[in-house]
Amino acid sequence: MKRIKFVINFFVATLLFGYSSALKEGQTCVADRNCDAGLHCETCITNGNVRPRCTRTQPVNPTSKVNGLPFNRYSWLTTHNAFARLGEKSATGSVILSPTNQQDSITSQLNNGVRGLMLDMYDFNNDIWLCHSFGGKCYNYTAFQPAINVLKEIQLFLEANPSEIVTIIIEDYVTSPNGLTKVFDAAGLRKFWFPVSRMPKNGKDWPTVDDMVKQNQRLVVFTSKSAKETSEGIAYEWRYVVENQYGNGGMKTGSCPNRAESSPMSTKTSSLVLMNYFPDNPDITQACKHNSAPLISMLNTCYEAAGNRWPNFIAVDFYKRSDGGGAPEAVDVANGHLVCGCDNITYCKANTTFGTCDRPAEVAAVATEAGHNSSFANSNGGLIQYLWLFGTALVAITLSM
Ligand SMILES: *[C@@H]1O[C@H](CO)[C@@H](O)[C@H](O)[C@H]1NC(C)=O
Ligand SMILES: *[C@@H]1O[C@H](CO)[C@@H](O)[C@H](O)[C@H]1NC(C)=O
Ligand SMILES: *[C@@H]1O[C@H](CO)[C@@H](O)[C@H](O)[C@H]1NC(C)=O
Ligand SMILES: *[C@@H]1O[C@H](CO)[C@@H](O)[C@H](O)[C@H]1NC(C)=O
Repeated sequence: MKRIKFVINFFVATLLFGYSSALKEGQTCVADRNCDAGLHCETCITNGNVRPRCTRTQPVNPTSKVNGLPFNRYSWLTTHNAFARLGEKSATGSVILSPTNQQDSITSQLNNGVRGLMLDMYDFNNDIWLCHSFGGKCYNYTAFQPAINVLKEIQLFLEANPSEIVTIIIEDYVTSPNGLTKVFDAAGLRKFWFPVSRMPKNGKDWPTVDDMVKQNQRLVVFTSKSAKETSEGIAYEWRYVVENQYGNGGMKTGSCPNRAESSPMSTKTSSLVLMNYFPDNPDITQACKHNSAPLISMLNTCYEAAGNRWPNFIAVDFYKRSDGGGAPEAVDVANGHLVCGCDNITYCKANTTFGTCDRPAEVAAVATEAGHNSSFANSNGGLIQYLWLFGTALVAITLSM
């Protein structure tokens, strides 16, 4: 009996800890390090997933599949209020009373493949700060940190990754003369600036990504203030981008209306499409649910609303949270369609004509099997869940001895 217990214990322990970084998406884990690169370990209780499993935190880099397409032929993972990090203290020393939208730093976001950053900028303390407002004003308890800190993180990333392109979307409350120009210059970002003069009007294609890389014009910046396009050379977002309603108004199944500042989604004179999908009040527990099936469903809705165009930017709260593929998977789906005409970037074949898809045999097989027997996934998941509970109990007993 003892021997059998030992064997089972050993088997379960091996199953759980033996492969410290070899678990695939959906497999049971106890810590992030159990999962493959680009995954982390989490539950999604609001979706009924109590078993911790490896979930995606990184999209596939679309230029690794097909390079050389116009910038508007790619989709980028975008973080709403990228600066509003959970648990962060204000650099003023005050406690932060405003809500938070993300779990990790800008550097960590960039390293995970986030390429669109939404930043709210204000005049504050004789500087430009990343902040939230009550009535357009920044206060100590809503001020996160001076913008230059985060802009320097972006500068370091662009320096270290010479073929990556980053887009900053500014909710702009800055009124000090040349306030934004000064802070971007001070952060050393001028040399990466993609000039407004090269942004296409009338819905034409953008320059190709390899051209942007070659010319080192790898920072695309949009402001919400139209006058700054002329005065400071910062592109007025809604001349180039259509964007759907943010907040609860943008989360109604089956509808994808434009936000007030944007032209209708179907306006083809804007070559870029941005999809928002997050509630009015950021909610870390609900985020894993929002960032899963409903996000993919909204992706299809917005595709239709935008006149059969896949979003170039997919903006979410808590981008790492999901019950499986999450926002990175939504980006992969958009990129599959944009880059190679397939349902998923992972099905794109390198260097072949548009529409030649390589749906891996195992994926097709699982899909067929699941189709024939809908309990397939559940029974499998149930077994793993049982093993997990069993394993955890055994480990707990072992540790307590
Ligand atoms: C805000 O923070 C600054 C420090 O950055 C401090 O000097 C000031 O007194 C604070 N203001 C309030 C109203 O607490
Ligand atoms: C996209 O491909 C990945 C990797 O093969 C797969 O895990 C995921 O389920 C696919 N998603 C969709 C919506 O096809
Ligand atoms: C695709 O083409 C590029 C450029 O011609 C080349 O560098 C790359 O090796 C090719 N990839 C494959 C998988 O053939
Ligand atoms: C699906 O699989 C389960 C368990 O293997 C089995 O009991 C059930 O009859 C199958 N259902 C169908 C429709 O094949």
